[in-house]
Amino acid sequence: MNAPAKTEEFATNLPAGVYAETVLSVTHYTDYLFRFTMTRPAGFRFRSGEFAMIGLVVGDKPIYRAYSIASPAWSEELEFFSIKVPDGPLTQHLQKIKPGDKVLMRKKPTGTLVLDALVPGKRLYMFSTGTGIAPFASLIRDPETYEKYEEVILTHTCREVAELKYGFDLVEEIRADEMLNEIVGDKLKHYATVTREDYPFKGRITDLIESGKLFADLGVPPLDPAVDRAMICGSMTMIRDTAALLEKAGLTEGANNNPAEFVIERAFVG
Ligand code: A2P
Repeated sequence: MNAPAKTEEFATNLPAGVYAETVLSVTHYTDYLFRFTMTRPAGFRFRSGEFAMIGLVVGDKPIYRAYSIASPAWSEELEFFSIKVPDGPLTQHLQKIKPGDKVLMRKKPTGTLVLDALVPGKRLYMFSTGTGIAPFASLIRDPETYEKYEEVILTHTCREVAELKYGFDLVEEIRADEMLNEIVGDKLKHYATVTREDYPFKGRITDLIESGKLFADLGVPPLDPAVDRAMICGSMTMIRDTAALLEKAGLTEGANNNPAEFVIERAFVG
């Protein structure tokens, strides 16, 4: 039996603390990236930006990995943005899911990339690389983000142009949604760059912050701890290097129980 069939069988006798949800759509972007949506359990609450443990039964037991929930807290469906790792314990199977298949999800979401972990400010930066855009896919579609900030700047840096498509699709979907578009207005700025292909906007986000090009391109002043807030999601090194630049500008790291000027979370793999 393959993973979807085993997961379906497992779902007939679920342990407490686990949901089994039905896949609704799957979109493949590149050989390494895909997006999928699934049903949302009636009692499942989360805050935009949080992650959940997602799984399939592989062999004789479920395997779970952390996934940022990419849909906003108000959405009826749950969305995820995933890498495909050829020999990844979960993603080698997850990349093959089809509408109608079951996916497991543990009941308790968590995470630090939430609006509550930041003290009030005027401008919110969301710095992401690769699949690190996922928690921000949730936050840029949440009206609360725009109630709290005058300006929302999503940066997304990938190696290649094809990897940026999900981010562009998100912004298009916001624009196509009459209600959401009215709330978002011109507050959202999407700044996408690549590092290993030709493209009008090139370079690592760290270099673009250091050189000031990011701020010049966006027409905003340099980082200011009095008004700027930030969230970072990417690889360990990207987080470390970006956080160092924010600290140099005078911002301090916060957490759920200790809100401050920026928060971090690793983009998940596997
Ligand atoms: P680069 O191509 O120069 O390595 P990865 O897939 O390795 O996580 O990389 C995703 C994107 O993040 C790439 O564009 C990569 O740039 C960039 N990146 C990797 N490490 C860092 C870092 N320490 N600081 C800023 N950007 C980084």
